[in-house]
Amino acid sequence: MSHSYDDWLASSAAEREKRGLTRRLRHRHEDESLIDVASNDYLGLSTDPRVVRAACDAVRAWGAGSTGSRLVSGSTELHRALELDLAGQLGGEESLLFSSGYAANLGVITALGGTDTLVVSDAGNHASIVDACRLSRSRVVVTPHADLDAVAAALRGRAEPRALVAIDAVFSADGGLAPLAELHDICHAHDALLVLDEAHSVGVVGDGRGLAFSAGLADAPDLVRTVTLSKALGSQGGAVLASAAVTDHLVNTARTFIFDTGLAPASVGAARAALAILVAEPDLVERLRARRDQLASALGVPPPPSAVVSLVLGEPGLAVAVAQACRSEGVLVGCFRPPSVPPGESRVRLTARAALSEVDVKVATDVVLTAIEKLR
Ligand SMILES: Cc1ncc(COP(=O)(O)O)c(C=O)c1O
Repeated sequence: MSHSYDDWLASSAAEREKRGLTRRLRHRHEDESLIDVASNDYLGLSTDPRVVRAACDAVRAWGAGSTGSRLVSGSTELHRALELDLAGQLGGEESLLFSSGYAANLGVITALGGTDTLVVSDAGNHASIVDACRLSRSRVVVTPHADLDAVAAALRGRAEPRALVAIDAVFSADGGLAPLAELHDICHAHDALLVLDEAHSVGVVGDGRGLAFSAGLADAPDLVRTVTLSKALGSQGGAVLASAAVTDHLVNTARTFIFDTGLAPASVGAARAALAILVAEPDLVERLRARRDQLASALGVPPPPSAVVSLVLGEPGLAVAVAQACRSEGVLVGCFRPPSVPPGESRVRLTARAALSEVDVKVATDVVLTAIEKLR
């Protein structure tokens, strides 16, 4: 390592430590028994035997890797079958797989943005949308969280011939919903495209098919949705749901599609099985909701419209200490600090999951509340 890097790495690490912002990997044991109120495996499908079997079957049939970009060698009939299933079940004319939800957001916004396109992005959006905006070479207006007037004002005053508005359907840090119907009306009135990231709404909102589907907007021609296969679907990967004109444009111009190895067959097979279960077993989503209501009630907060309950604690040090105390008592909670949330809004974040029992939720919430009371 060069001397200039030695000094810089050491001082960066010291500064992070001082501000309570150091992140450390914790390696899960195979037989870990923590109560998980942190992961995004909302429906418990990552370990469902049918999903695991589908992943193994896909590996046997297609190999461990997809062997290249989808445009070269990495596009199997299995990839296409999942794309047809996604569009068939979640609505929308077409669907296109990416190797992650992150790559899907980067691909869509960079391919549909550009110097002649205004991009309007909500201040609460996920980092993948933030990065996509930066890479898009568009003029970007960041509007205050869920501020419809600010979106309308940005669109009204634009000089660019085209505009797109990007927003998370469920905000991953606080669990709130995008004001979808109103936003769609505003976009429609100003001839703008709406890009909706359904990462945390698939498997959770409505009958599990997400926010746009439950709002009757899944087939709206001016709506582009991104989804991840790595949360409620328990697998890995991402997809875009949109018109055929849009997905065709992405195949030809989205750099995270063209220059990226196709999604691994195991992930495709697993996601396909998980999607079939999600649609066939709506009681899974009901079970998730029951746990969500129990979680919120025990923590003394209103039930969120999603599966995410956040307890804002303020400074990062306190959030880390609470998360550590919970872990030592056998409960895994999320710990969100800047830049995931604004300064002063560090928090523990709990996710309701269908696989939790009533007892799990009771134990987890008791532990969290005790830790906060002790450490605050
Ligand atoms: C709102 C949102 N969008 C996109 C992503 C990225 O999805 P993936 O993990 O599949 O890359 C995430 C992941 O945390 C997310 O929370």
